Amino acid sequence: MKKYLVIGNPIEHSLSPKLHNYWIKTNNIDAIYDKEKLNYEELESIISKVKKNEIHGINVTVPFKNKIIPYMDQLSPEAEKTKSVNTIYANNNQVIGHNTDIAGFELSLKKLKYDVSGKKILILGAGGVVPSIIFALNRMNVSKITVTNRTKEKAEKLKDLFKELILADWGNVSDFDMIINATSVGLNTNEKIDLDLSKVGQNKIFYDVIYNPHETNFLKMGKELGNRAENGKFMFIYQAHQAFTIWHKLMPEINDEVINIVTND
Ligand code: ATR
Repeated sequence: MKKYLVIGNPIEHSLSPKLHNYWIKTNNIDAIYDKEKLNYEELESIISKVKKNEIHGINVTVPFKNKIIPYMDQLSPEAEKTKSVNTIYANNNQVIGHNTDIAGFELSLKKLKYDVSGKKILILGAGGVVPSIIFALNRMNVSKITVTNRTKEKAEKLKDLFKELILADWGNVSDFDMIINATSVGLNTNEKIDLDLSKVGQNKIFYDVIYNPHETNFLKMGKELGNRAENGKFMFIYQAHQAFTIWHKLMPEINDEVINIVTND
């Protein structure tokens, strides 16, 4: 039986095991997908198990997407550019680090039928998933990306990866067509982002990377102000879909049951 894992800290709330195990079962694959809470010191030994074929694939989540990189033998071009790895597998005894968050975000916008080309984007936050979102937005030919983060130094580090990025002070809300919440604010139901978005106008899209809870205060406010609001459930589903396809060499179905797994937790 092949073994797959998602690693992170915290990890209790990850829905990856439910989703992957559903696809494993419905495709009659002899495998199991588990979750493991790790500390930094344990990264090296878990990766050595991939090399020894004891573990056949790993998903990586907060806070290890960048810290795992030194233990990889090779990075895909996407992982290299974003300095972010969320999917690991072995190929010819080499441990490969790849990034499926990029395709996850891109495919989620396609699914939502939102054409982002030529649009002005404002990203809130500078955490682990932001380089992947920026990479995807650039690939989809947006006109301008502004990042604002509570801790400015962290946003400045992003500029080392993406020179064209515009940085704004926290509280300084620039004009945008699409605003993306990539902070962790909203994971707890009552949390509110301390930004004044009341004057942003209408006919924009508010996109929250958070999908659980399915409607954050950020999305509620976007709607109340007359804008479209979408959560990150399709980004989550598509990043998993891409990882599954790499590991098992087949494309699982994204049906209502899959959407229910992510929606009804
Ligand atoms: P990490 O910081 O380890 O990459 P993350 O969950 O990927 O973790 O990122 C958390 C993001 O949410 C960061 O951009 C963080 O801002 P800081 O860099 O200032 O910490 C942001 N964040 C968390 N709590 C916040 C709050 N109360 N207000 C605004 N931003 C917040």
